[in-house]
Amino acid sequence: MQAGFVISIMVIDVLLSSLIRITAHVKQMNNPASCVSCVYLVGAGPGDPGLLTVRALELIKSAEVVVYDRLVSSTIIDLIPDDVARVYVGKENGRHLIPQDEINALLVRLAGHNQKVVRLKGGDPFLFGRGSEEAMYLSRHGIPFEVVPGITSASACASYSGIPLTHRGLASGVQFITGHCRSDEPLNLDWDSLANPQMTLAVYMGLANIDEITSGLIKAGRPADTPVAIVERGTTEAQREVFTTLVDLPKAVVREKVKSPAMFVIGQVVSLAGELNGFQLAEEQRLKQVN
Ligand SMILES: C[S@@+](CC[C@H](N)C(=O)[O-])C[C@H]1O[C@@H](n2cnc3c(N)ncnc32)[C@H](O)[C@@H]1O
Repeated sequence: MQAGFVISIMVIDVLLSSLIRITAHVKQMNNPASCVSCVYLVGAGPGDPGLLTVRALELIKSAEVVVYDRLVSSTIIDLIPDDVARVYVGKENGRHLIPQDEINALLVRLAGHNQKVVRLKGGDPFLFGRGSEEAMYLSRHGIPFEVVPGITSASACASYSGIPLTHRGLASGVQFITGHCRSDEPLNLDWDSLANPQMTLAVYMGLANIDEITSGLIKAGRPADTPVAIVERGTTEAQREVFTTLVDLPKAVVREKVKSPAMFVIGQVVSLAGELNGFQLAEEQRLKQVN
């Protein structure tokens, strides 16, 4: 009986000290002023500033320097206070203005100067954003960092076009894939795993290789008439959607002169876009009220 009592006290003790440790960690993470010589890898989402997380906005406002990419929208850049230093490291004419290893070194250097650094990246930093490479470099150089997830362009572009990425009976899952490969290397996609018609595909960086992606999917067994949505500059004022089918996708890209950044959503769920476009319904309602 006594032994049982002692064991219970010990268990409660262990639980309490774990709880205190978790609370301290959460408090430290949530305090924007908590860490000065560190780097915050922050997801800015796909463009609409309304899709920034509260944490991202807090950090942008309290940073000393913001290092940002091409895919961070100008409306989000406008939220950076005037007295915060800005460093643009994006691409110009398809070429990196600053190579990745120099960006890594820059982050370490800035944090080493006791700066509170926000590394602002489009979408989510850990989804095709090289955020993990930057985090690895920081970790290896002993620089504390925190990753603040952002809304990734696949889910945002789909939602803003009235497309659910999954839907009972139409898609039981979604695969996020890259349509880009390192220069001079062939596309490295597991076509067989992409053939399942119950899986929605969200293709990032697919513009340059759209012919190969389309033919690879059809050869693997995706029906040629699978609906496809191309969402260009999703969630920004300039968002444009083009609806087509898999077999016609390459022609649609050329005909519509689709430009980067563009997201390709492939699968039966795209057929719901007409019914689920809430923005369109709101616009129709507004026009009715005006007339
Ligand atoms: C280097 S990846 C970065 C992805 C980002 N980390 C994310 O989570 O969305 C860039 C690709 O994301 C997609 N993308 C990013 N922003 C977009 C937007 N506003 N509209 C459409 N596609 C976008 C495009 O496919 C673009 O080529």
